[in-house]
Amino acid sequence: MPSFRVSTPQGNYDALVERGSLRNVAEFIPKGAGKVFAVTTEDVWKLHGSSVASHVNEVLFFPGGESRKRLTEVETLADRMLERGADRSSVVIAFGGGIVNDVGGFLAAIFMRGVPVIQIPTTLLAQVDAAVGGKTGVNLAGGKNLVGSFHQPLVVVIDPDLLSTLNDREYRAGLYEIIKCGIIRDPDLFQLLDQCSPAVLAREPRTVDSMIAAAVRIKAEVVSADEREGDLRRILNFGHTVGHALEAETHYERFLHGEAIAFGMRAASCLAAQAAGLPAIDHESIDRVIAKYGPIPSLAGIRAEALAARLTADKKTIQGKIHFVLPTRIGEVRVLSGIDPRIVVESIKAALA
Ligand SMILES: NC(=O)c1ccc[n+]([C@@H]2O[C@H](COP(=O)([O-])OP(=O)(O)OC[C@H]3O[C@@H](n4cnc5c(N)ncnc54)[C@H](O)[C@@H]3O)[C@@H](O)[C@H]2O)c1
Ligand SMILES: [Zn+2]
Repeated sequence: MPSFRVSTPQGNYDALVERGSLRNVAEFIPKGAGKVFAVTTEDVWKLHGSSVASHVNEVLFFPGGESRKRLTEVETLADRMLERGADRSSVVIAFGGGIVNDVGGFLAAIFMRGVPVIQIPTTLLAQVDAAVGGKTGVNLAGGKNLVGSFHQPLVVVIDPDLLSTLNDREYRAGLYEIIKCGIIRDPDLFQLLDQCSPAVLAREPRTVDSMIAAAVRIKAEVVSADEREGDLRRILNFGHTVGHALEAETHYERFLHGEAIAFGMRAASCLAAQAAGLPAIDHESIDRVIAKYGPIPSLAGIRAEALAARLTADKKTIQGKIHFVLPTRIGEVRVLSGIDPRIVVESIKAALA
């Protein structure tokens, strides 16, 4: 089974990518563990809970949605764990999309100062991104993911069979993060997404499994080299600087995260063509591949200046300096700061057109 080692100062673990792996979750629950708590949403539990139910003692339902990804919900879940007999030997299984992975992971990080978590991501986005790397957390009124903790899981169990019930829009949103992986580090993956788009869109199992494995390998490598957002981990933020601005500008309602990142990658690629020497031919192929998995919702009414103004407020901004992750060719990126703000606005305008 394809398995990717994640090595961090906090601990080492595997991210497994295999169809049917969901049924083997029991083997990852430590011997001598106490009660096992699944944190999930009702929709996911209804669709897929039966495969893990026999390994779980208690199911805790989280309402789901970005607006509920808040500290107060974590407190409610922690209270319910305690009511149902949790102690320091308990284990949390976060079973759902990226929101559940973040909330369940954070709950595990802070419950009695930390209990182990097993991540079982059920959306494509969560499988290739959110569940691997140990970042957990919730939103504040003032911004996304501003309270959280690094809490590495015992294991990440990635079962592509789970994706059969994912709707088309959520599936495509996850694909954009895989395109991102190709652009930052893997020309072969990028080529697969370019040449095999019918198979990718039809969710042909062999193609899907190989692209998930490629993306997970990249995330595992990058996180292992750099657990905490130093220069290497930053490359995963390609498309996210402008993407986050778009999400915030539209109050997290109009675009799914992956869709906003698709737009952010388009803007960053325009910028890269002007400021980082991205060859025109590579710029064109990036736009072409992103378009193959679109369209994203309409960008009507969004102003480049408004997005640019939001960049300085991004969490990724360090001491007022905006860092852009820019491709220099397919498979390679550089982190640049101090770019002329006029070029930034121009690039956003070009991506909006
Ligand atoms: N921690 C990280 O490193 C990291 C990285 C990327 C994103 N994130 C976070 O992930 C979140 C977004 O995650 P998401 O895109 O998975 O959204 P999500 O968790 O809201 O899931 C999307 C929807 O799909 C449903 N769903 C989940 N699995 C399904 C399945 N198998 N079949 C049918 N429906 C299913 C969910 O209930 C939900 O309604 C954001 O909050 C983002 O901040 C975290
Ligand atoms: Zn992302």
